[in-house]
Amino acid sequence: MNVLLEAEEVSKRFGGVRAVDGMSLRVPEGTILGIIGPNGSGKTTFLGLLSGTFRPSSGRISLKGRRIDGIAAHRTVELGIARTFQTTRLFPRWNLRQNLDVAAQATAAKGSIGPTLAPLALTGLDHRAETICGGLSNAEQRLAMIAVALATRPQLLLLDEPAVGMSPSEAGELGRVIRRIRDEAGITVMIVEHNMHLMMGLADRIVAMNAGRLLAEGTPEDIRQHPDVISAYLGG
Ligand SMILES: Nc1ncnc2c1ncn2[C@@H]1O[C@H](COP(=O)(O)OP(=O)(O)OP(=O)(O)O)[C@@H](O)[C@H]1O
Ligand SMILES: [Mg+2]
Repeated sequence: MNVLLEAEEVSKRFGGVRAVDGMSLRVPEGTILGIIGPNGSGKTTFLGLLSGTFRPSSGRISLKGRRIDGIAAHRTVELGIARTFQTTRLFPRWNLRQNLDVAAQATAAKGSIGPTLAPLALTGLDHRAETICGGLSNAEQRLAMIAVALATRPQLLLLDEPAVGMSPSEAGELGRVIRRIRDEAGITVMIVEHNMHLMMGLADRIVAMNAGRLLAEGTPEDIRQHPDVISAYLGG
């Protein structure tokens, strides 16, 4: 299987804090890869390194064999990497269609990258196109952020805790949306999530981080039973 994204010994220091410390992984095209880890273990920072929010202190990141570490976030979007954030980032007074249009313009001139999509249909938000984003429910806003990310026509979608604040049934629907994004649009997905029920049913493989480092990698079942993962979560 083709490797879409590769990180090699990637580190990020903030002053004295090693937020990410020598992370290496390969993400095959078409995978749903989960990333778990205790609070502060470096998950968001790692996504930020992949999306160009942060420049690595050291190490290499490649997309389809092309080095992308250290390039700015607006360039990584053009190369087909889109992300969502732990907190909602929509223009609250604009309707959903307007939010999508702004995102689409970010890559409109490029014409390269991922498939042309129907982001509202994929996320089940067709009926909300004309709704002011500030008026959407929490779960709808979370799906709307994914729709906005899809509007940039990514080949890699990075999701940072998309299920925050969702009920079990809303999280179940989110899981179906993410699976559809991979199955129907062929987009590779990396998802950070504390909702283990969602993660176990969704991810092909899971990477566990602790203190900025890769603690374990494997199938959801491998990870569930991994003694180092269990002790990291229990504080052992
Ligand atoms: N911009 C920043 N400046 C300084 N330190 C930071 C910055 N961002 C993150 N850190 C620190 O880096 C470490 C990793 O944080 P990060 O947000 O990546 O963890 P996380 O795994 O996403 O945690 P959570 O599950 O709580 O979202 C923490 O010690 C955090 O305080
Ligand atoms: Mg985080």
